Amino acid sequence: MRFKKNILCIGAGYVGGPTMAMIAFKCPEYKITVVDINPKRIAEWNSDNLPIYEPGLFEIVSSIRGKNLFFSTDIEKGIKESEIIFVSVNTPVKEFGLGAGMAADLQYWEKTARQILKFSQSHKIIIEKSTLPVKTAQAMERILHSNKKGVDFDILSNPEFLAEGSAMDDLINPDRVLIGSRETESGIKARDELVEIYANWVSGERIITSNIWSSELSKLVANAFLAQRISSINSISALCEKTDANIKEVANAVGMDKRIGNKFLQASVGFGGSCFKKDILNLVYICRHYGLSEVADYWEQVIRINQYQKERFILKMMETMFNTMAGKKICLLGFAFKAETSDTRESPAIFIAQKLLEEKAELRISDPRALGNAKADLAGSKGVIEYISDPVEAAKGCHAICLMTEWELYKELDFKKIYKIMEKPAFIFDGRNILNHSELFDIGFNVFSIGMPLFTHL
Ligand code: UDX
Ligand code: ADP
Repeated sequence: MRFKKNILCIGAGYVGGPTMAMIAFKCPEYKITVVDINPKRIAEWNSDNLPIYEPGLFEIVSSIRGKNLFFSTDIEKGIKESEIIFVSVNTPVKEFGLGAGMAADLQYWEKTARQILKFSQSHKIIIEKSTLPVKTAQAMERILHSNKKGVDFDILSNPEFLAEGSAMDDLINPDRVLIGSRETESGIKARDELVEIYANWVSGERIITSNIWSSELSKLVANAFLAQRISSINSISALCEKTDANIKEVANAVGMDKRIGNKFLQASVGFGGSCFKKDILNLVYICRHYGLSEVADYWEQVIRINQYQKERFILKMMETMFNTMAGKKICLLGFAFKAETSDTRESPAIFIAQKLLEEKAELRISDPRALGNAKADLAGSKGVIEYISDPVEAAKGCHAICLMTEWELYKELDFKKIYKIMEKPAFIFDGRNILNHSELFDIGFNVFSIGMPLFTHL
């Protein structure tokens, strides 16, 4: 079968994989190839054991793989054959040199740009999918237009707003699709080609266009606003603990104001994920670069509160468990940064686990999806760590349970049974406020949560 268009995506990660699966699923007339430098990842995308867990993803991938969706390591062929190239390589925070710990590390991005330039033989539309610092498209344009081959490129920004765990729903039914372009004739033509792809399943009023810098910046700002809400509610959870106010009641009352809204007001041990911290650091770095130090300080505080929340959690545990953890067995229920994903990037559980190990606690870690990543995250850490899939088995003989991820299954556990097989006094630290605290107290547990009343027999 001849396809209407060949589309390539460079980078087969959490963004590239699900997004391209959805485009291929909704647009059978386009051929979509996803390439990656990591052959293991590509082999997994071609197997029954996909490299990432996302509800509904496997069903979609397996229904179209080999028809109009292909996974490959042949980047050169992919570039040569395609008219449209999405770039969704990783852009982690830079760990070295200028801007270390703040700026985005653009080495993977730039390498990709150079590869595109090297192998391109005809005009291409290049689409930024990864989250990038504002003005990255300009760098991309400069690299691509430095060629003497006479090949032309149009660069678009099309940030991905999907959240992990609900990626397929977010892709099918997005709040908006944002496309930023140059306002030149060819920029607008390229933009319209991308609009045409999304129009296969997204209604016209949800596809919005803007200039390229607004598009890049909007992605950073959307993530910064979401993270800011969590840090705002988490900061108030600390005050609730001092004043006997209850954070759930406060969040409910505040969120009922339509102007504020009730989403993203769930107090927790802290936000994680690959985007929030990185994007805010990026925003802060850019503001400082332009001399906007007050603006930079304002946004930096969102990250500081997130760090404070994790530290407060450990301090609370220490204080409650008689100021020593040495030799105590602690069960971490959940390691993923949120439910319904295997992803552990920036998960608060990493920090909590490392601090507990420093205090010489022995860890039993359980998670229905993320144990593989948990092992990799803690590979270099010293101390006793066991990884146990069954949560009840993991809690056996432990002095305390720390609930780190809001998996539904943890609400349904038989806590009477768990209480019996734990050391006494038995503690539960609910880092997500999802358990029934008074019921747990009645069973015999001492229960500590985030910004809610204490339930303690001590
Ligand atoms: C986020 C954005 O939501 C998404 O639009 C963007 O494309 C990528 O970054 P993601 O990181 O996948 O998505 O998950 P999200 O649902 O935003 O949660 C981020 C973190 O905040 C998680 O650790 C989550 O547990 C935490 N969170 C979320 C809270 O602690 N409280 C809340 O009320 C909401
Ligand atoms: P994200 O969450 O942004 O999707 P991931 O780390 O999950 O980030 O995925 C990014 C992918 O990009 C990885 O699989 C990585 O191997 C791939 N990658 C990085 N650099 C290149 C490159 N130059 N060419 C092809 N793939 C790349």
